[in-house]
Amino acid sequence: MAPRSRCGPARIATVQSPAVPRFPQSHTTIKSGRATFRFYLGDSVDVLQRLVPGSISAIVTSPPYNLGIRYRTYDDTLPRDRYLEWTSEWVSRAAQALSPTGSLFLNVGAKPTDPWTAMDVAQAARPHLHLQNTIHWIKSIAIEKALAGARAGLSDDLSVGHYKPINSRRFLHDSHEFVFHFSPAGTTPLDRQAVGVKYQDQSNVARWRTAASGLRCRGNTWFIPYETIQNREKDRPHPATFPPKLPEMCLRLHGLDRLQVVADPFLGLGSTAVACAQLGISFVGIEMDERYLKEAISRTRAALRVS
Ligand SMILES: C[S@@+](CC[C@H](N)C(=O)[O-])C[C@H]1O[C@@H](n2cnc3c(N)ncnc32)[C@H](O)[C@@H]1O
Repeated sequence: MAPRSRCGPARIATVQSPAVPRFPQSHTTIKSGRATFRFYLGDSVDVLQRLVPGSISAIVTSPPYNLGIRYRTYDDTLPRDRYLEWTSEWVSRAAQALSPTGSLFLNVGAKPTDPWTAMDVAQAARPHLHLQNTIHWIKSIAIEKALAGARAGLSDDLSVGHYKPINSRRFLHDSHEFVFHFSPAGTTPLDRQAVGVKYQDQSNVARWRTAASGLRCRGNTWFIPYETIQNREKDRPHPATFPPKLPEMCLRLHGLDRLQVVADPFLGLGSTAVACAQLGISFVGIEMDERYLKEAISRTRAALRVS
């Protein structure tokens, strides 16, 4: 028992925990205003487990899908069991790093001949986190004028976005991917208005108190096209990126005022880093391939307008 003084319990010296969690030594660190961007060249499992538990507010990421995509370094053709074991391992480390009210936005695609990948990845994450929402990232969509209704004001049928053409008699063009929103308890509060959309029928705004802002919840289908590029090797030198608008919307949905540090353990060209740069949020990115890492760093610098 601690000795007691005459004036009450003895004071026990305590070590103040630092306000800002300590981070492992990074390859590159960029400071901009109040935000710090840390970039790691290495293995995501290794770096994630060196982060202070609970220190990451949100993770927005897209791991390799094990669909035989040609990355520069990573071999995307693991035996299915090994791939799913590894998925479970990195998600468990990510869950440890997440704050109790954090979010993991996990983007996964599939291919027609291997349609279960995305669902298998979500199942591998299931022991570690709660599946709170399933968002469909719509890359391309066709809306017929007649179905949109007169109020939409379409002058013709609409077909927008980019899709992966598939030449087949049995499969459709692939125009969506999953974004699984996982959280530690399934109760992470969200800022639905931050990615809300205008009511089409403005009479609802007057009728419902919850509609006072004029915005309704967008729902779980998000149309986000890729930017059109002229030269793949020059403009987007990576085989599997998402547009920065995708992480931006995930982060807004999580709630910008609750974001201290965001992470992407599969950085690629740094789309999540660029979104954080635009939003002024501190970031941790991990990438095993040095060329991709350097490209991500230079894209982040450009978004921050620092040299
Ligand atoms: C689907 S891509 C991510 C693309 C990124 N979302 C973007 O928009 O640019 C996956 C990335 O993870 C990297 N990677 C694969 N295994 C890794 C590991 N164990 N540790 C760190 N990075 C890894 C690959 O090199 C690849 O760049």
